[in-house]
Amino acid sequence: MKKYNVAVVGATGMVGRKVLQVLEEQNFPVEKLYPMASSRSAGQKVEFAGKEYVVEELNEKSFDKDIHIAIFSAGGSTSEKFSPIAAKNNVVVVDNSSAFRMNPTVPLVVPEVNPEDLEWHQNIIANPNCSTIQAMVALKPLHEKFKIKRIVYSTYQAVSGSGIKGFEDLENGIKGEENKFYPHQIAYNCLPHIDVFMENGYTKEEMKMILETRKILHEDNMAITATTVRVPVFYGHSESVNLEFENDFQIEDVREILNNAPGIIVQDDVKNNVYPLAREAEGKNEVFVGRIRRDESLQSGLNLWIVADNIRKGAATNAVQIAELLVKNNLLSR
Ligand code: A2P
Repeated sequence: MKKYNVAVVGATGMVGRKVLQVLEEQNFPVEKLYPMASSRSAGQKVEFAGKEYVVEELNEKSFDKDIHIAIFSAGGSTSEKFSPIAAKNNVVVVDNSSAFRMNPTVPLVVPEVNPEDLEWHQNIIANPNCSTIQAMVALKPLHEKFKIKRIVYSTYQAVSGSGIKGFEDLENGIKGEENKFYPHQIAYNCLPHIDVFMENGYTKEEMKMILETRKILHEDNMAITATTVRVPVFYGHSESVNLEFENDFQIEDVREILNNAPGIIVQDDVKNNVYPLAREAEGKNEVFVGRIRRDESLQSGLNLWIVADNIRKGAATNAVQIAELLVKNNLLSR
């Protein structure tokens, strides 16, 4: 079996570490592994498949080697600067940042949803926002069948989505310490504020969900609104999703479609208090869907509760699945 040289950029970070773990769990065929980070942690060691690797400092020459795939999780400005250098050297970049997501020459891919978009990549592929990914896995098969007219997203997002700084703010807040990263205390609180505020009063996270959903579904005019909220949960994003369809549907058909869709586990047995929970989604690669019920205020409306591990399916797992498809479909550049 052919093996590939893989760079993990941001290998010391929350998502980068998970990328290493998922590559190992999935038995991704790695020949050489190049963990990279900033000068701050160059020389540190990370573990992969029972071996220790020394973290290299990312610089302009990092991609002069014959690397097949680079998975970037080191923030937007690092991606902006270094992804094009990697791409020019025929390294295919899977980028976890928001830097290239809305670039029309860059595919934005959820493997269960729009794998065909990988075919037109020009060496950079964007991994969508964590909250968008989990929603897409559940919404695409329903859109195919009943055609979504409007989406209302309301999210309950874990602090790990902000990286180590967000995680520490919750840990320290529980101990009674002041917040250092979020604008307010996150412990015992909900902050309707993720990423920066835009001119239109939405946050950037809300606009990401709206714009990325349209790009992934290839529905430029779909009516979508979103409210994204940071909650005092360490891992796992939860979402209340309200849908209005063009076509009529039977609730049994919705259940069957979701039950048969790839990457989804339906947990919906309210009589026994069974519904998706962030605590249970933690450490899993799937998207969990429950509270499936008709929105009785609409002609053809549906409510769903969608939960996933934001560091796995929302980031690392999705990126590794993209890498797997690149290999499987012969879409690498060397
Ligand atoms: P470092 O450990 O050297 O700071 P998180 O999102 O969990 O905070 O992780 C961010 C990741 O991105 C870390 O691995 C961090 O490395 C890496 N990173 C941040 N800035 C840079 C940069 N300028 N060049 C390379 N890696 C970077």
